[in-house]
Amino acid sequence: MSTEILSFPNGFLWGTATSAYQIEGAWNEDGKGPSIWDTFCRQPGKVERGENGDRAADHYHRWAEDLDLMVELGLKAYRFSISWPRVLPQGTGAVNSAGLDFYDRLVDGLLARGIEPFPTLFHWDLPQALQDRGGWPSRDTALAFADYARVVAERLSDRVTCWITHNEPWVAAFVGHFLGEHAPGLQDLVATFRATHHLLLSHGYAVEALRAAARRPLQVGITLNLTPGYPASDSEEDRLAVRRFDGVMNRLLLDPLFCGQYPEDVVAMAGSLLPVEPGDLERIAAPLDFLGVNYYSRAVIRHDPSMPMLEIAQVQPEGSEYSQMWEIYPPGMYELLRRVWNDYRPATIIITENGICVPDGVDLDGRVRDERRIRYLRDHIAQVHRAIQDGVPVRGYFVWSLLDNFEWAYGYRMRFGLVYVDFDTLKRTVKDSGRWYARVIQANGLPGDTV
Ligand code: GCO
Repeated sequence: MSTEILSFPNGFLWGTATSAYQIEGAWNEDGKGPSIWDTFCRQPGKVERGENGDRAADHYHRWAEDLDLMVELGLKAYRFSISWPRVLPQGTGAVNSAGLDFYDRLVDGLLARGIEPFPTLFHWDLPQALQDRGGWPSRDTALAFADYARVVAERLSDRVTCWITHNEPWVAAFVGHFLGEHAPGLQDLVATFRATHHLLLSHGYAVEALRAAARRPLQVGITLNLTPGYPASDSEEDRLAVRRFDGVMNRLLLDPLFCGQYPEDVVAMAGSLLPVEPGDLERIAAPLDFLGVNYYSRAVIRHDPSMPMLEIAQVQPEGSEYSQMWEIYPPGMYELLRRVWNDYRPATIIITENGICVPDGVDLDGRVRDERRIRYLRDHIAQVHRAIQDGVPVRGYFVWSLLDNFEWAYGYRMRFGLVYVDFDTLKRTVKDSGRWYARVIQANGLPGDTV
């Protein structure tokens, strides 16, 4: 054990992240319209054990209790998402002010406790009414998103400074429209690239709408899931396979956002599927105040000619440590941050998600001893520190997640929280990792006895 203390810059934003569908519940209360996840979960076989977010962690009713937990953890910032169909039940048109009231109360509650609110406008719960009109493959959805952004900003931007337009548009496009494992459950390559472009375009429109609706300067960013790729061997074939992986996984979004163009190699493959109109790329590349990076794991890739299109396959390297979902690879955090900074120079970077699922349980004495999570977080925070030392402007770090919650197609089996939730009683229990994180925040870094 080292006694070194890894200190972070003054004002570093330590937070946790959640999303509306994963924690709120109250799926049909106070005028909320259905989202594509409400629909998807009702289709047999889509979610493990047929679970859904109807009640989730019941945060919609227990938000005040959850704010108290945030105080217990000493959070400086809290990232949550706003449910579009709570605010606009039909996706466009009539505003449901009862839906906005919920976020109004939440924001006031955060500010009263000295916690910086970080709302995300879209974390995958598209209003079903918009899906019925074509969803993200339709350009109209991008325009509808701008209008939704304006409505929310008109209500909250007097108090909320930091805004995130989208969460992981790659996942919304590819897992929802190509793999079919997320709502809306399509397996359609054309729809996938159309959705990708319209998600990015909608981001550009929303940046404009947010800045125009606010009467003071806001800080606006977007959150991407970025997965660094590594070759399975030294062979040229595997190196080229990684390049193709990186094009579709990372550069497909980073290049238009920061360079105003789609990557040439991806365009060569799928350019005709991207419905770009004049002016779109300039709009997508609007300057941002920060880039949100979600990092969980890396991908080790090999060339596999039997696979369609990209001819790549992911391998799980022997000897690595794994969670229930991913390989654990802390250096990937550092390497990714260095790469994004070198290649794209975002104004600043915020780690908007990092965390691990652990099959936690409550011990007889009421404690949740999640040492693996503590180790994971510690090792990744240390890599963030290393990147900052090397000049990467990282301003904040958000643990995914505050609470155990609805982990999409896995249902409630995957527990990511710093706080344990008993999904029968909805009782919350701060895990050992939550107490540990409170000490990190208090020390503004990794205290000697935790390194
Ligand atoms: C994300 C996801 C979260 C997941 C988390 C763990 O933004 O990736 O949005 O909703 O729960 O990543 O898989």
